[in-house]
Order: sequence, then structure tokens, then C-alpha cells
Amino acid sequence: MEFFTTTADAAKRTTDCAIVGVYERKQLTEAAAQIDAATGGLIAGLMDQGDISSKLGAVSLVPRVDGARCKRLLVVGLGKKSTFGRREFARAQSAALTHIRSQHVVDAVSYLTREDTRDCDAYYRARLALQALGEHRYRFNDTKSKDRRPVPKLRKLGLGANDSAMAKTLTRGAEHGTGIAAGMAVTRDLANMPPNICTPSYLADTAMEMARKHKAVNVQVLDEPDMAERGMHSLLSVGNGSEQPSRLIHIDYRAGKKSDAPVVLVGKGITFDSGGISLKPGPMMDEMKFDMGGAAAVLGVMAAVAALKLPINLSVIVPSAENMPSGRATRPGDVVTSMSGRTIEILNTDAEGRLILCDAMTYAQAELDCAAIIDVATLTGACVIALGHHRSGLMGNDQTLIDSLMAAGERAVDRAWQLPIDQEYVDQLKSNFADCANIGGRDGGAITAGAFLGQFTEKATWAHLDIAGTAWLGGAKKGATGRPVPLLVDYLLDRMD
Ligand code: BES
Ligand code: MN
Ligand code: ZN
Repeated sequence: MEFFTTTADAAKRTTDCAIVGVYERKQLTEAAAQIDAATGGLIAGLMDQGDISSKLGAVSLVPRVDGARCKRLLVVGLGKKSTFGRREFARAQSAALTHIRSQHVVDAVSYLTREDTRDCDAYYRARLALQALGEHRYRFNDTKSKDRRPVPKLRKLGLGANDSAMAKTLTRGAEHGTGIAAGMAVTRDLANMPPNICTPSYLADTAMEMARKHKAVNVQVLDEPDMAERGMHSLLSVGNGSEQPSRLIHIDYRAGKKSDAPVVLVGKGITFDSGGISLKPGPMMDEMKFDMGGAAAVLGVMAAVAALKLPINLSVIVPSAENMPSGRATRPGDVVTSMSGRTIEILNTDAEGRLILCDAMTYAQAELDCAAIIDVATLTGACVIALGHHRSGLMGNDQTLIDSLMAAGERAVDRAWQLPIDQEYVDQLKSNFADCANIGGRDGGAITAGAFLGQFTEKATWAHLDIAGTAWLGGAKKGATGRPVPLLVDYLLDRMD
């Protein structure tokens, strides 16, 4: 994926497709006005005719443009000028690129980046534009033998700038956007991959491949005997019923000062969640291949950070297992001893994510001096009920860290929302037979899951992102979204300054 910036008059630049915006009340953007002037009022005329809408995200394609140098003109509605901000920009830019997905557009210039956005600067406009290009180009074809959906021809996006200072800012944003888009594609590929291919060992191989590609990346993979030696019996209990061996993947990226403690990202890597003996119902069970969405996200962040060569220290830990029923599977009622020494009564084998994450976080605290631990997991259906598919659930034990992640989500247009972990929620996890149970009842299920993890991270600066609703979409648009890679990369970039 590539980009360039241009300060040219929109009517005078040759391109397959010029993308310009119009605001409500027939207010043309400057770039639209330039093309309008060169074409004898083409845009204003079409608006008067009702053929161009200025509603946010509405797209009209004008296939012939006499008088301007563009082969096609794409007019995007930007809504009200007074409320045009980063979210509106992102929406308009993606709507534009989605619209020309099937067209033979090899080269396009978006002049939307020239517009003022109420709550962000040109840096973010460029970043979001390149992310939209990544979205436009993304296709998952790996498992199709025919009818592969063609990857759009457009690989280079021009970004309109008002002056050379803006062009410079756009360039910085576009570079970061390219890295984020690449990371999101890694995340989406891994999550979309079927569970008979994407196993714990497959995730480990993916990590090793990253280490081969980037000098600053080092990988260690723990197999089941290694984990048993370290006492990770909570993690190991989840894979008991599966033919696929469990793995713990540990990746270090070191490009920052030696004295800087790394941020540690921990991603839930359940490559298929059948529920185990607490078997899930049949309908839509295929979607539980996405239960490694947290692992896919942290690997995507690692890919983005390595591609951008950010001068930071980052560690990624992926506990990975397949949750299956069998004669050897963990039973409801089993008690296991976690690496921390805390015993856990497994009352429901479908609450398995927390069982692998708790050991991974104990491991992280034992192995690394962690600046912060952030775990990312498709952890609970309850979080989807609470927040839907729009915001990730955010919890933790350090308000400063939570505030930073929340703000990063706002900036990156990849939002989260905080849920409270009060003592009362922790109390729901009491067990008659062990130090705690792995479930706390139906009520407040997203929070009791977070509260469970909090018992293993008391000494760390820790936050938890429940991405069950945001990492993938069901229904006709079934597939991985690449979230929350933008949020996490934004957080890491923000920590740098
Ligand atoms: N992987 C699921 C959570 C999930 C559900 C993600 C739906 C995406 C969509 C998780 O392992 C799970 O099964 N959680 C249970 C917890 C319950 C048994 C306490 C749930 O949410 O029902
Ligand atoms: Mn489950
Ligand atoms: Zn799960």
C-alpha cells in the first residue's frame, strides 16, 4: 500500500478518480468548488437535480468529467460542516473507497484530507484514510479454490493537502496508517482462518515467522511439558480435551531504551471454543473460530510496530489452546492449581478464556518487568449484550492506564467503554471448594470475567479489553474487523511522546 500527497488544484491533477466532499446546505468543499468551476457547474447542477446527496457517507459516482483532468469524480456527502470530525471523516472516506471497490480504479486522489476536522488534525485524517484503503483492499481468499474475490487494483492513494506543511503532517499520518492497516490485515487473516488450519501451533509458527522477518523480534514457544513444569495447570486444563497441543507464545520486540520496561500485551488464543463439556449450542458455533481474536489482535499490533520500527519495547504473550469435549476433557467441578498457586474450581468449562489468560499473566509478571499489562480477549457474550458491536469493554486496576486506553480508542476511532470492577463483583466468584470459581453467575458477566483476571494481576498495572463484540462481525458481513489494533497502536504511539 502506498500514498502520495498533492497540493495541486483538484481540477488540474490527472487521476482515475478524484474524491471530493460536499457539506449539507449545498456547501461545496474547496476541492469540489475547483472541479465545479472547471466543469461549468457540474457538481452544483447535479446537486440541484438531486443526483448528489450531502448526507454523511452518501456517495455519488460521476463517470465522465469534461473540463477537469480526473477520469471519474466521486462526490461524498460530509453532513453538517459544523460537526465534521474524525469519525465523520473516517466514515466518509471509507464509504468513498468501498464504493469504488469493484471499479477499475488504479489511482485515486482524496481531497477530503484538506477539510478541517473539528477534533483532529491532518495527521489523523491521513492515518484514517490509509486505514480505509487497507479496508478497501482487504480480501480473504486463502480457503477458496474458485470465485476468489479480486483484490482491488487501487493500491496507491493520493492525499490532498492545502500547503506543504499540511503535506508533511499527512505524510507522517499516512505512514502510521499504512503500518496499522498492515497490522489489521494480519489480525483479520489469522481470525478468518478456519480452526482446522489456525491451531495453537499455527499461531506459534506465525510468531516465529515474524521473528525471522524482523531483527528486533524474538520468539519463545512453550509446549505442554514446559508449561507443566511452570505449573500452568489452569491453562493446560483447557486443552485437555483437544487433539491439538496447547502453546504459550512469548514475543519480545526490543527497539527502545534498555532501561524502559516493556508494555505487555496478552491475547486470548482459543483457536476453537466448543465450550468443552459445557458444550455450546449448535447454531453459529462456527463463529467460535474467532475466539483467538485477542491473539490475532496482539500479533497484528506486533506486526504493525515491527513494520513501523517504533523505538519502543513491547512484549506479546499468547496463551493458546483448543477447547473441546472428550473423555480427557476438564469436567465442571474439577479444581485446578494455577501458576500463581491460586486454586480454581471450574464450574463451567465454557468460561475457558480466563483460565488461559490468568496463567499467561502470572507468567508475564514472573518473566518480565512490565510497564503495563493489557490483555485482549473475546471473553464474554455478556460484553456483547452490554456494549453491542460498537465499543470494546475496558476494565482494570489503574485508572491512568484505563484513561489512556479510552483516549486512544477515541482518537483512533476504535472506541471502548469502561466497566466497573467493584468488590461486589469479585465476591460473586467465591467457591466452596477452591480459592475461587471460574464463573460468577449470569449477572454482570463481562465484569465478573474481568474481576477474575484482576485476582491474578493485583501487583501489576493492568487493563483488560473484552473484544467479543468488536473483533468480528456476524451475519452477512461475517468476518474479522481488525479491532482493536488501531486503539492499541495509538496507545503505544502516544506513550512515545
Ligand atoms: N468465547 C466465549 C465468549 C464469546 C461469546 C465471544 C459470544 C463472542 C461471542 C467465552 O469463552 C464464553 O463462552 N463465555 C461464556 C462465559 C460464561 C460461561 C460464564 C459466555 O459468555 O457465555
Ligand atoms: Mn467459552
Ligand atoms: Zn471462549
